[in-house]
Amino acid sequence: MTEPAALRTVVLVSGTGTNLQALLDAQSPDGYAVVAVGSDRHDCGGLDRAAAAGIPTFVVRVPDFATRPEWDRAITDAVAAHTPDLVVSAGFFKVLGADFLATHQTINTHPSLLPSFPGSFGVRDALAHGVRVTGCTCHWIDAGIDSGPIIEQRAVRVEDGDTEETLHERIKVAERAMLVDVVRALAADRGSWRRGGGLD
Ligand code: GAR
Repeated sequence: MTEPAALRTVVLVSGTGTNLQALLDAQSPDGYAVVAVGSDRHDCGGLDRAAAAGIPTFVVRVPDFATRPEWDRAITDAVAAHTPDLVVSAGFFKVLGADFLATHQTINTHPSLLPSFPGSFGVRDALAHGVRVTGCTCHWIDAGIDSGPIIEQRAVRVEDGDTEETLHERIKVAERAMLVDVVRALAADRGSWRRGGGLD
């Protein structure tokens, strides 16, 4: 029997890209392949990691377009040029719009146990609230902010004396493993996943 080709995966990043690096390190011919990495900014460690791995990159900046829907169409097309089966938002700090989500099946990783602490400051907000356990969530992206169907979560304890930085670093250790597990599982079960749902 012929092995299925690797799941074609495009990763979107805005920051240092340690989640991207975990995905790059865990690619395999019978699992998934990162076929391109995109960003909304040029000065981004994630793009450097992609280039070092020999992966094609592209940048689509919001200020280069007159309107947000035009930016959304442009990034939709830039991703589509790589014919992905799956898009992963891994520390991508822009909200994807209607065109994008209608075209690409897209998952996101977020540094809190959703639905608690959505938004840009998931770690800071959890710490400020005084929770003793937080963590990370991988979910399908829908039209809301960090609101789509949850695929997987990992819990992380808050330790006495944690700062936003120390807590985020521990969350990111769990997050990288979670993200690799999820993309591998989606690659293995690709016949059974569907828009807006998790793994069957
Ligand atoms: C990750 O913790 C990711 O969940 C978070 O940014 C970090 C990126 O780290 N994303 C958000 O907070 C989005 N709301 P990385 O650049 O090292 O992968």
